[in-house]
Amino acid sequence: MMRVVVYLLNKIVPGITYDSSLSRMGRSAIKRATTKMPKKEPAASRKRTGAQNTDPAPLTPAYHTFTAEETDTLRKGVLTWYDRCKRDLPWRRLANAEPDLDRRAYSVWVSEVMLQQTQVSTVVDYYTKWMKTWPTLQDLAMASLEEVNEKWSGLGYYSRGRRLHQGAQKVVQDLGGHMPRTAEDLQKQLPGVGRYTAGAVASISYGQVTGVVDGNVIRVLCRLRSIGADFTTPAVTDALWNLANSLVDPNRPGDFNQAMMELGATVCTPKKALCGECPVQGLCRAYMKVELDSASSLQKFRKKGSNTQKGSISDIEECAAAASCPLCLPPGDQWDRSLGVANYPRKSAKKPSREEQTVTCVWERCGERGTPQYLLVQRPQKGLLAGMWEFPSMLLEKALTVKEREDVLRSRLQEVTGCEAPEQDPHYVGEVVHIFSHINQTYLVYFLRGVSVKAEEVEWRSALRWVTREEFLESAVPTAMKKILKLCEGQRLLGDVAEPSRKRKKDVGAIEPPAGRAKVDSKQRSIQSFFTATAKK
Ligand code: ADE
Repeated sequence: MMRVVVYLLNKIVPGITYDSSLSRMGRSAIKRATTKMPKKEPAASRKRTGAQNTDPAPLTPAYHTFTAEETDTLRKGVLTWYDRCKRDLPWRRLANAEPDLDRRAYSVWVSEVMLQQTQVSTVVDYYTKWMKTWPTLQDLAMASLEEVNEKWSGLGYYSRGRRLHQGAQKVVQDLGGHMPRTAEDLQKQLPGVGRYTAGAVASISYGQVTGVVDGNVIRVLCRLRSIGADFTTPAVTDALWNLANSLVDPNRPGDFNQAMMELGATVCTPKKALCGECPVQGLCRAYMKVELDSASSLQKFRKKGSNTQKGSISDIEECAAAASCPLCLPPGDQWDRSLGVANYPRKSAKKPSREEQTVTCVWERCGERGTPQYLLVQRPQKGLLAGMWEFPSMLLEKALTVKEREDVLRSRLQEVTGCEAPEQDPHYVGEVVHIFSHINQTYLVYFLRGVSVKAEEVEWRSALRWVTREEFLESAVPTAMKKILKLCEGQRLLGDVAEPSRKRKKDVGAIEPPAGRAKVDSKQRSIQSFFTATAKK
């Protein structure tokens, strides 16, 4: 097999030599893969700690693992690159400068939770504000969930913030203010801390020699070791954790883990990977395949008319156990030349997201000193966007006609305010689509401006709130609500309330609205005041 590679590169393809297209490590990798050399477990990786079973996977074919020599090369390559190229990020500065282990672990924990599912560029600002507000576990433990949701607003996946908050309370109340000191205990004792977060916090904060596997590491490892099977399967997940645990540098585990993640985020990217900048290109089986693939294409091109498959990559180098290997591309799943290294990693098709429709109403009234205010309703304390604030909304259970959905909206408005019917009909503004992790939500947006009062005052409901635009933006509101407000602003619907300070002098009651508009009352009133019918007590 080795001869085939040499033959292809040296003899058949003029101008491309064996030495220039495959590194020394690449050659040894092919050699080992094709001669079934047993995998040598690097000595350092035997010294492992952590929450998981980190025994080497005995059945992992050598093709998908690293020799001791390769492990050494990878550690050096990745760490040298990291020292030169790492981004200057606030959590790195904080962790490096913080001598107190609890404070350090807390600062790393916050960053790692924020970084799950969210880009570094977005997290930086949120992280900085969070740490300024709650620099210690004790500060966070004393905050209210409402404040936590406000700070998290816009980051998405709100349960993450909630869990951090619960975790801080647990550390302060039950653990004497001390963060658990190992990955195993972090995972066991803190709500929402899984294998990844535990490994990241323990390696970065305490120097525990334990690996991490996140989306970036999955991509890097799958490409390096040509792991083409669905990475969500237990066999692949186990193999990836075993690889991460065997590779982690025993002297700089935190830096090594961050370097692997950084490599995935900035070089070994999902699309258009920058292979030319990769410090471990020579170890990368995916890259080798691309090179060999283009070499064999060139060969075919030069042998015009020859339609032979000879020299196609499947002939050149493969896992010795390919036919039954749980880590290889499944037999029917071919290498796609147009994807290059992005053939890896592979994942089974995502379950399609649920399509949902929700009617929602931006209700504006004229507040104190003529400032427009908007009605917000608090969501239930459990489930999607728990405890957050939104415009009065109702999920539609099925497809409805326009009339039916407007009836639904009217009853929702009655329900939240405890009154019978708004005097005016909300008018349709347009749609806002927001993609949650598993739901494509379409909001059918309506707008309603407060009208004159006939209703009796009834008691204020704690889950209702009138807020100014500024207060709205500071509130614990989901991103979808911000998009909805923006839609109304774009249509110049908002803030077009009368100027009450001037008019109020003339007429303390109803104010003449601009031509063609509903009347707007200048006085600050409760929500119920915008209903005509008798309020329920
Ligand atoms: N992604 C998640 N955590 C990270 C970290 N500490 N460094 C780089 N990328 C990351």
